[in-house]
Amino acid sequence: MSTELVIKKLDTQPIAGQKPGTSGLRKKVTEFKTGYYLHNFVQSIFNVLPPNEVAGATLVVGGDGRYFNKEAIQIIFAIAAANGIGRVLVGQNGLLSTPAISAVVRARKALGAIILTASHNPGGPHGDFGIKYNIANGGPAPEAITNAIFAQTGKITSINIAENVHADLTKLGVTEWKGFKVEVIDSVTEYASLLQTIFDFEAIKKLVARPDFVFNFDAMSGVTGVYATRIFTEMLGVNTSNLINCVPSEDFNGGHPDPNLTYAPELVSKMEKGLFDMGCASDGDGDRNMVLGKRFFVNPSDSVAVIASNFAAIPYFKAGLKGLARSMPTSAALDLVAKNLKIPFFEVPTGWKFFGNLMDANTLSICGEESFGTGSDHIREKDGIWAVIAWLQILSHHNTDATKQFVSLENIVHQHWKKYGRNYYSRYDYEEVDTKLGDDVMRQISEGIATQKLVGQKFTGVSDGQSYEIAAVDDFEYKDPIDLSVSSRQGLRIRFTDGSRIIYRLSGTGSTGATIRVYFDKYESTSGNLFSETQTHLKSLIHIGLELSSLQKITGRKEPNVIT
Ligand code: G1P
Ligand code: ZN
Repeated sequence: MSTELVIKKLDTQPIAGQKPGTSGLRKKVTEFKTGYYLHNFVQSIFNVLPPNEVAGATLVVGGDGRYFNKEAIQIIFAIAAANGIGRVLVGQNGLLSTPAISAVVRARKALGAIILTASHNPGGPHGDFGIKYNIANGGPAPEAITNAIFAQTGKITSINIAENVHADLTKLGVTEWKGFKVEVIDSVTEYASLLQTIFDFEAIKKLVARPDFVFNFDAMSGVTGVYATRIFTEMLGVNTSNLINCVPSEDFNGGHPDPNLTYAPELVSKMEKGLFDMGCASDGDGDRNMVLGKRFFVNPSDSVAVIASNFAAIPYFKAGLKGLARSMPTSAALDLVAKNLKIPFFEVPTGWKFFGNLMDANTLSICGEESFGTGSDHIREKDGIWAVIAWLQILSHHNTDATKQFVSLENIVHQHWKKYGRNYYSRYDYEEVDTKLGDDVMRQISEGIATQKLVGQKFTGVSDGQSYEIAAVDDFEYKDPIDLSVSSRQGLRIRFTDGSRIIYRLSGTGSTGATIRVYFDKYESTSGNLFSETQTHLKSLIHIGLELSSLQKITGRKEPNVIT
C-alpha cells in the first residue's frame, strides 16, 4: 500500500520581476531562496498547463548541479504531486544536462520538463540560479507560454503542495505515493543511447586511438563531466587524463562555466601551447560548446557551417538535410552552405526556442547560434556533447587513411573558407553596465533606425581605408513561418552595402545590470584575404559600430569584458 499524499494550500502573493528571459527565469540564488520565490514560479507553470493534460502525466526534472539544485528539486516534487502530475523522472543526484532532458522528454513522451540551470552564469551561494519550462517536444516553451506563466506570477494567490513528498536522489529507482511517483534515472544512459544512433562510434574510436591525434575535453566543473566520463572515456576510448574539470561542482569550482576564450583559460592556454590536436569545452548545463584545434579557434558561426557542409560524414543525416537555420546575429556563413545545398534556410531571433517549430515541421536539420550553441533535430535544445562528437566524426571522415598526413581541424576550416569565402566575425560583450546606460546606448541607435537617418551614411574605414555605406537598418522582427506568431524588437541591425553587418542587443540572460552585445560580421569572398587575424580584419567595422552607438562615451567602458 502506498502512502496517501498530504496536500495543502499555501497562501502567497505575487512577486515582481518573474519574467523569463532568453532562456528561462534567472536570478541570484539568494532571491530564489527567499520566501516562496521558487514556489510561486513553479505553481504559475502549473496554473498555465491544462489540468487534463497534467493529470497523471510524466514530468522530467533535473539541473546542472549548481548550488540549490537539490533543494529546488524537492520543492518541485511536492508542488508537482499536489497539482496532479503522476510521475516525475529525475536524474541521479539531481543531475541532467539540458540536452539530456530534451532527449528524455522525447523518449518518454513526457508532458514537459522543469530544468534548473542558469547555464553559463556562475553559481554558488552568491551566484545565479535559474528555472526553465520545456514542452512535450523537448524544447523550451515558446513565448506564448512563457508570457502566460509570467502573467500568472503577477496574480498568484496560493500554492498547492504535498507535505509528505521527499525522495532520495542518490539511488536509482522509484519512490511511490498514492497517485504519484518519483523515478530516479541514470543521468546518462538514455542520452548516450540516442547519440549512438546518430554517430558511428566505431569510426570515432579509431580516430581517438591514433597516436597523432590527442583530444581534450573540459567540462568546466559543470554537469557534462558525468557525460564526458561515460561517453568519451568508456564509449569512445579517450584517456581519463584527457578530461579536465569533469567533477560537477555546486559553484563550478569558483569559475564561470562559459566555454569561450575568456572563461576557459586553462584549455585555451594548453591549446595555444599546442599540447592537443582538438580541445573542447561545454558550459554548466551542457548545451554550449567550444571547439579548438591546435593553436586554432573555431568560431561558433563557422562551426555550424562546417558541420552542415560536412553532413554526409554523420550517419544521422544520410538521407540529406531538410534545412538550416541560425539566429540573426550569427554570422552568415551558414547561409552560403544552405544556398549551395539548395535547401531551405531560416534566420530566427536569438534563443533556441525559435528553432523548435521548424524542426517539428520537418524543415530544419542543423542550426546554430554564435554564442557557442550548435545542434540538430535529434532533440530540441542545443547540444554541447553532440557538437563535439560531430566534429570528431568529421575528423574521422577526413582521416580514414592512417598512412596519410593528419587532416586537422584547421585544415578542414580552411578548406571550407576556400570553398565558400569567409565571414570574419566577432562579438563584444559589455557586462554589468548600469541598466539606464544600457538603455541609453540602445536608444541612441534605435532613434537612427526609427527615422532611417542612418541609411546612406558613409564611413571610411580607420584601418582598411575601405568605404562603408549603410544600406538598411531595422529592429529585427520575426514571423514564425509555422505558427505565424510575431516576435518584435529582437536586435538592432545595421547592414552595409558590401554585406557587412553590425548588430546591437541587450542580453536577456544576465541577472545583474545590463549586458550589451555588439556583433560584427564581414564577408570576404574566395578571391579575398581569407587568412588575416579576425580583430585586425574587423578593426574598421568595429570602430564604426562603437562610434555609431556612442557606447564608450555613454557607458565609460573602454574595453568589452569578453571578446569572441
Ligand atoms: C545568450 C545567447 C543566446 C543563447 C542564450 C541561452 O542570450 O546570446 O544566443 O540562446 O544565451 O544560452 P542573451 O544573453 O544574449 O540574451
Ligand atoms: Zn547553457
